[in-house]
Amino acid sequence: MNTVSTIEKLREEVATARLAGKRIGCVPTMGALHAGHLSLVEAAKAESDFVVMTIFVNPTQFGPNEDLTKYPRPLEEDLAKCRDAGVDLVFHPDVEVVYPRANATFVEVPGLSDVLEGTFRSGHFRGVTTVVLKLLNMVLPDVVFLGRKDFQQQLLIRQMVADLDVPVEVRTCPTVREEDGLALSSRNVFLSRAERETALAISRSLEQIRRLVEGEAVSPVAAGSELKRLLMETDGLLLNYATIVDAATLEEVSESTSPTVDLVALVAARIGSTRLIDNIPLCNALKK
Ligand code: PAJ
Repeated sequence: MNTVSTIEKLREEVATARLAGKRIGCVPTMGALHAGHLSLVEAAKAESDFVVMTIFVNPTQFGPNEDLTKYPRPLEEDLAKCRDAGVDLVFHPDVEVVYPRANATFVEVPGLSDVLEGTFRSGHFRGVTTVVLKLLNMVLPDVVFLGRKDFQQQLLIRQMVADLDVPVEVRTCPTVREEDGLALSSRNVFLSRAERETALAISRSLEQIRRLVEGEAVSPVAAGSELKRLLMETDGLLLNYATIVDAATLEEVSESTSPTVDLVALVAARIGSTRLIDNIPLCNALKK
């Protein structure tokens, strides 16, 4: 496995792989790797011949009061995990490599970026779509692998890729969880034991309402209210949002939502100083 930190070196390595006829897969990350990230590498290995992981804590997607400086950066451990997982090339640039000058150009996906995470993290998605397009232009992969854990993020990236004719295929991979249901996240290391216990309410409630909707015990609208109620009643958890939406448009489900649309239940909550997000797809009863 090679590690490079300049765009020139990266392009050279990728060009050599491409010349050898290899299909290039890319896994963009901010590091602090866990089994969720490594599941993307697994998927990339199954579908491509040369796997590039990018590790870059992107400052433009953090708000002024967010955790940019305290975001974990265990680089040596990350590189060991990449090696073990069979990554071919790690691109780990400094901030000055990705942003050598003040950016005048940004990529925005209005609409999809204005709701849910967008309302709580102003400017966040502009930073995400801009850096992801930059990383795609640097790596030039055939296929990029994203996690469903960040549901809104993957939807925005798909929209950007389609709107701007970015020549890459997008794959979205399932959320990897701890045995007790907690979705893996680089931010879980900030949770105390008691906070982690509280955080479990998120995945438990999502699972509970999935069963309600899929078992046709309640309508999706009622399930959305139940999800809110369950989480608002959880001590130590400050709910940002809990909602059931159309998985393609992110519009909140209502009595007039067609029963054939795919739905997803999404949650964001703060536990102590840690903000967590999670979601679960809801298999539509009529489409079973
Ligand atoms: P990061 O949070 O490091 O996540 C990198 C990728 O791993 C994302 O596609 C994310 O959805 C996926 N991922 C995270 N937790 C996961 C889990 N439990 N199961 C499956 N996949 C999971 O998301 C980002 O970085 C950044 O916004 C980035 C896209 C790299 C742009 O800076």
